[in-house]
Amino acid sequence: MIEEILPREVASAEAFEDDDRGNHLFNEERAAVMGAVPARRREFTTVRHCARAALGDLGIPPFPLPPGTQRAPRWPAGVVGSMTHCAGYRAAAVARASRVHSVGIDAERDEPLPEGVLEMIGLPEERAMIDRLGARRSAPAWDRLLFSCKEAVYKVSFPLARRMLGFDAVRVDIAAGGRFGARFLVPPPVAGGRAVPRVTGRWLRRDGLLLTAVALC
Ligand SMILES: CC(C)(COP(=O)(O)OP(=O)(O)OC[C@H]1O[C@@H](n2cnc3c(N)ncnc32)[C@H](O)[C@@H]1OP(=O)(O)O)[C@@H](O)C(=O)NCCC(=O)NCCS
Repeated sequence: MIEEILPREVASAEAFEDDDRGNHLFNEERAAVMGAVPARRREFTTVRHCARAALGDLGIPPFPLPPGTQRAPRWPAGVVGSMTHCAGYRAAAVARASRVHSVGIDAERDEPLPEGVLEMIGLPEERAMIDRLGARRSAPAWDRLLFSCKEAVYKVSFPLARRMLGFDAVRVDIAAGGRFGARFLVPPPVAGGRAVPRVTGRWLRRDGLLLTAVALC
């Protein structure tokens, strides 16, 4: 599914359940989740299995992927990438840095945010947009989709800017057809020597999931 919203230059792999058989961790990865609850260890392991499969598509042999600065994964030299997991879904996307500056993906269940969260993560203009998009029975959970867009933008920006972004740092515009734009309200990331004040991404809703992706090519 995730490959449908990623450009050709990006390799990806996904999983809809955890299968411990054959999914191993490198020592530095195992150390990172040593004290974690089993569910966290399983998602961590499966998503790394996805990442190694996607790296394999780029011709890169199995490589340890421990969390680095601010939890961002450390990719092999010359590779950019992103990982995500939510209940019933894990995915990784990777690309050669020579072809893609950065990639960010996010997955969420297609369910409304808990009461009060939209007020914490949405700018007034974004909340008005969600009202306009409307809560038809067949519509996605727009508030959750807004959250997912922001997470994907954070993940695409972090490897370039190396800093945390608050939810008020980016203004997202969702188009009903599966695309979104995001404008940085703080100094934007720099890719290939040029500031990137606005990024565009894609979203997909299927089988109870919302997927979002941003790739800076
Ligand atoms: C880090 C964060 C984005 C993770 O998102 P999430 O929806 O909770 O979880 P997901 O499963 O989608 O993503 C988790 C993966 O993101 C990746 N990730 C974590 N921190 C990251 C960072 N700073 N940069 C890039 N990727 C990161 C990791 O691969 C992680 O998986 P792992 O822990 O198994 O390695 C989120 O917890 C967070 O801190 N958000 C606050 C910042 C933000 O989103 N601001 C919005 C700006 S508009």
